[in-house]
Amino acid sequence: MVSRVIPVDPFDLVIFGGTGDLARRKILPGLYRRYCAGQMPEDARIIGAARGEMDDAGYRDFVREAIVEFSPPKEQNAEQIDGFLSRLHFIVIDAKGTGGWSDLAALMRDGVVRAFYFSVAPGLFGDLATRLHAHAIADDDSRIVVEKPFGRDLATAKALNKVLAEHFDEHQIYRIDHYLGKETVQNLMAVRFGNILFEPLWNAQYVDHIQITVAETVGVGGRGSYYDKSGAMRDMVQNHLMQLICLIAMEPPSHFDPDAVRDEKLKVIRALDPLAPDEIVRGQYLADEDQPGYLVDCEDPASKTESFIAMKMHISNWRWKGTPIYVRTGKRLRARASEIAVVFKDPPHNIFGEQEDRRGNVLVIRLQPNEGMNLRVTIKEPGPGGMRLVEVPLDMSFAEALGPDAEDIPDAYERLIMDVIRGNQTLFMRGDEVEAAWAWTDPIIAAWEAKGDKPKGYDAGSSGPEDALMLLHRDGRRWREIRE
Ligand code: NDP
Ligand code: BG6
Repeated sequence: MVSRVIPVDPFDLVIFGGTGDLARRKILPGLYRRYCAGQMPEDARIIGAARGEMDDAGYRDFVREAIVEFSPPKEQNAEQIDGFLSRLHFIVIDAKGTGGWSDLAALMRDGVVRAFYFSVAPGLFGDLATRLHAHAIADDDSRIVVEKPFGRDLATAKALNKVLAEHFDEHQIYRIDHYLGKETVQNLMAVRFGNILFEPLWNAQYVDHIQITVAETVGVGGRGSYYDKSGAMRDMVQNHLMQLICLIAMEPPSHFDPDAVRDEKLKVIRALDPLAPDEIVRGQYLADEDQPGYLVDCEDPASKTESFIAMKMHISNWRWKGTPIYVRTGKRLRARASEIAVVFKDPPHNIFGEQEDRRGNVLVIRLQPNEGMNLRVTIKEPGPGGMRLVEVPLDMSFAEALGPDAEDIPDAYERLIMDVIRGNQTLFMRGDEVEAAWAWTDPIIAAWEAKGDKPKGYDAGSSGPEDALMLLHRDGRRWREIRE
């Protein structure tokens, strides 16, 4: 297979917060990788912007260090790094002040795509939008890229949408959810809508339930003060997991174009039932021998914020009524493993007689690590002894199936930034989608707050609190094991 890299149009990409953690770890190394892949045209420019005093040379040194620290050694090539750095500039600017804005206006070129990445604290998004407009730096074709969190509830998300809409049309606003940039997440759409095989079975008549697990081994140490104001519900469910649910559950869009896809995703969010209290389990990781527990990491011994959440969700529409979606995500769990498992019902009539431990067909889409898909099917156990059945996986690892091409799969940020330059919003959240997700989430959080709900402790390195296991056990089901 030959990978096809199509260069994007010439651009000026301004990264507000160009010296921050996200820029250093993800955005700039990602752009370097696209440069190495040949996707960046000759006259593309990247302009870092922040308040700290720095000149172009200082910024190039800063970015060189970021590439060395955050790119795999095999991707580090001195000549390539120099070529990439020559496209970088820096401008000292204050999102809340007047300094630097006319310099930025003077630096921007006509006739190239103008993109502005808001990689700063969300409290500055409105200031940036206002000043870009006031200084006539953004034109009608310019794009802004807005990082998460997009609000912390429906009211703040609406306010943010409103302030952005004062200066930018919806087609110019790219709300990032980096899960949408993950290769396997996009493959969900390819598998569902590029094959005839699955779609006829993709409904409540044939699917018993769906499990979505996004498990992390890291705790929140180092970013405890941010996390403690969010918790797993705001940090992961309202955005990343909600997007996964949408892609798994949505109707086939009429076209693979941004609004057709997002219209269908929106319908899924709007069809989500409110949750009953016994359909939610919240947890906080405990200390182990080596590392502190959540309450120490978040620096609030009385915190009631959850570092784990499991839920039984329901979609009220013709396709899914009666098929629960069990979702769980958490920090300091047994393994870093994210997957979606579609568990099919048993055949309507069993001609082989009762056999122990039959578990039926399961389609597993592994998001990370080891991206791939696995379909469990029933076959006859080889050898004599009658018709004994056994389940075996039909396994497809992208790394094996695609060979060297799998190594060139762009990281989520790389792909999403290139989509911004191309002007393709399919993998970005629309304003109404974000609002609908908060509209579903808000009452759940409000109910915890009203009753002072305290998350259950769970052992670091476990699968979460016991109650999360019970969420399925009491329905006669069980979670898949969390393992890499
Ligand atoms: P940091 O605190 O590490 O960096 C903030 C950046 O903004 C710095 O470059 C800072 O430089 C600049 N900045 C701060 N105030 C101003 C101002 N008034 N005017 C201009 N620039 C300013 O934040 P992160 O990089 O971690 O996060 C950035 C955004 O990305 C946030 O919205 C965050 O929620 C989001 N995000 C981050 C992730 C991560 O992994 N880090 C993951 C997902 C989302 P200076 O102080 O010199 O101005
Ligand atoms: C971020 C969350 O959006 O996603 C983090 O703020 C989380 O808490 C991260 O760790 C997970 O992303 P990934 O790509 O490592 O699964």
